[in-house]
Parts: sequence; C-alpha cells; structure tokens
Amino acid sequence: MEKAKMGTKSIWAGEKEQLAFGATQVPVVHSVSFGYEDMDEWYEVAIGHREGHIYGRNTNPTVQAFEEKVRVLENAEAATSFSTGMAAISNTLGTLLFPGDRIVSIKDTYGGTNKIFTEFLPKQQVEVALCDTGDHEALEEEIAKGCKVLYLESPTNPTVKITDIERMAKAGKAVGAVVIVDNTFATPINQQPLSLGVDLVIHSATKFLGGHADALGGVVCGRKALVEDIYHYREINGATLDPMAAYLLLRGMKTLKLRIDQQNRNAQEVAEYLQTFDLVEGVYYPGLPDHPHHDIAKKQMTGFGGMLSFSVKGGVDTVRDLLPRLQFANRAANLGSVETVVGPSRTTSHVECTPAERAAMGIPEGLIRYSAGIEDIEDLKADLAQAFESVTSKLENLSNPG
Ligand SMILES: Cc1ncc(COP(=O)(O)O)c(C=O)c1O
Repeated sequence: MEKAKMGTKSIWAGEKEQLAFGATQVPVVHSVSFGYEDMDEWYEVAIGHREGHIYGRNTNPTVQAFEEKVRVLENAEAATSFSTGMAAISNTLGTLLFPGDRIVSIKDTYGGTNKIFTEFLPKQQVEVALCDTGDHEALEEEIAKGCKVLYLESPTNPTVKITDIERMAKAGKAVGAVVIVDNTFATPINQQPLSLGVDLVIHSATKFLGGHADALGGVVCGRKALVEDIYHYREINGATLDPMAAYLLLRGMKTLKLRIDQQNRNAQEVAEYLQTFDLVEGVYYPGLPDHPHHDIAKKQMTGFGGMLSFSVKGGVDTVRDLLPRLQFANRAANLGSVETVVGPSRTTSHVECTPAERAAMGIPEGLIRYSAGIEDIEDLKADLAQAFESVTSKLENLSNPG
C-alpha cells in the first residue's frame, strides 16, 4: 500500500482491515460499546495489549478506517480523528501547551484558529507570537526566541498566502518546537508537510477530504508518540468523530485524487479568467505567476489547490450584487466540496473577527472566497461571465440614467 500512487491509496487504504462477512465496503458500526465473553480477552484489549474496541468514545472500526486512510495518504506514522477540524486544532494545542509556554504562528490562520490564539490561549497564560504571513525573517526571529509549538497553515484561508514549510520546520526544529501544519487547503494530494520536516499535520476533514459538504470531521497525523498523546487527550475530553460521519468521509475520500486534480485545474482557469474582468481588483491564487509566493508554492506543492479569492471594485455593495447572480455556486460558509462555493470572508472564514481584525489580517471587506468545484470549466466561466456582465450593465444604467 505504501508504494501505491495517491489515486490508488485514496481508494484502498484503511478499508480491508475493517471488512467482515465478505463485504466490499466498510460498514458503519454504530455500536457504542463492544462486548466480550472472555474476561481475559476483555482485559487484554482494555489495557491495550490486544487489538480491539471497548467504547465508542475511544475507538470504533469505521472511525479507524478513516484514520488509516488519512495516515497512509499523508505518509504518517499515526493518525487520530476528531468531531470537527476545530476539535483537532484545539485538542492538539490543549495536549501540547501549558501555562508559561510559547507558541509562534502567523496572522492569517483560519478565523477559528486565530480566535484560539487571540482569545483562549492568552487566558491560559500561553504566550502567542503572531507574525505577518509570508514574512519568513520575522518568523525565524520569533522562533529563535524559543517556542514549544510552531503552528503554520499554508495556503492560508482566505488570501491563499504561502509559507516556506521546509525552511520554517528547520527553524522550529532548531529550538525543539513541535511543528504543526494545517494542510486543509492543500490536501495530501497537493502537499505533504511531513516530508518537509513537520511533526504533525492537521485537517478539517469537513472540507476537501470529505469533499461532499455532508460530514464534519477533523484529523491529526504525524509522529506516533505525539499522536498517541493527542489521542489520549481526545479520548478523555470526548471530541470523538461519529461513525456515520467517518463513513461519509471515508467514502468521499475514495475520489480525493480525482476531485483534487479537477479542482486544481478549475481553480487555475478561474483565477486566470477573473483577471480579465474590469470589475475585479485583485486575484489571489498561488498558481498565478504574479502571486508573491508562487515560487515557494511551486517548490513545495504538486498542485496549487482548489481555493482562490478575489476582490471586486465597489467592495461589499458589488459582492452583494454579484454573488446571487451565480447559478453554479453555493453561497455558503464551507469549501472543498464537489460544488463550487462562494462567500465573502466577512461571513465565512473570518466571521468571528471584527472588521478591524480582518483589516489587520489584510482581508478587504469586499473579498470573495471561491472554492472551485468539479463542474465543467466552460460552465463555471460562462456563469462568471453572465454574473459580471449583468452587474456591469446595471452599474452603467445607474451612471447613465435615461
Ligand atoms: C484551514 C481550516 N482549518 C480548520 C478549519 C476548521 O474546521 P471545522 O469547520 O471542521 O471545525 C477550517 C474551517 O473552515 C479551515 O478552513
């Protein structure tokens, strides 16, 4: 399995171990507890000396299949799952950080993660140093002062900024930090942070991994000893992935490679196409040669991903006018699904932040996040064209009444 290519791994990894009765698909095991007739066997499983399950908050066969698929795809020693991506992030940080510790990160992490950094960790006397995303020298300076955790997200949500993961992992290692990367936007198809020297990879599985916007989930994978500690924290604190959600994520992941390849292509074409509209102020996509971190992205990613964002002239008013005109896009607070999804950052990724906080993060109020789906590119382009066309003619009519 380890030698198979990504498309094959997406389909086969984690499945076989959980099959029973000749079934070819992993079953959804809803049972909360697992019973034993033999008291010695029960005891052996309970103390971890024998494979098996005891209670659903700890482990479950369907959940285990999902974890194994992610582990294989990320080429990790171990993986453990969570009820949501935020549970994966908060449980990981809860395991690693104690009062008096220090964490270094970037200003552009996902809004929920940013809230942990700015609201919750300081209350627990954890010092947080947030650097401008993409300012590698500033990050290295902060890391060199010492830190227990270096936390990165690349590409970032929503302005798809890129951090040089290998360079930062090296700096983190030099001070003994645990280096973590949120790989939600890239997925293991486009980026393998563990091969760049990182200790732990985190995903909101809700997004590209599941890919169908029908199940919440999170996962952490990487070095075994660390993952075991995080699993222990989660099994006690209880942010467990539901077996039905695990099944949906597992099924979604079978087409991960196919979906991501198509989303990469669609996002690239949409990004290039958006640049041709007068109403578009700026397009943010790491696959564009004029993206400030295009070279780093090229070095560390095998595809530039399905996420882009763009800002429009006229700010929020234009956003309000433009987005409802799109036929092939959900206007929703999600990303990474087979359908194209659009939304302003102020109501999606950074809804938790104030306008001032968003401004400080370089997120204009009129920024639109675009998650490319797997539709035919001709339809996505035609849809954008008709939406821009009708907004533009409306503006022209307003400026030339009668
Ligand atoms: C990059 C990133 N990380 C983490 C999360 C949190 O994931 P969840 O919504 O599954 O808790 C999100 C959600 O949008 C995200 O975009």
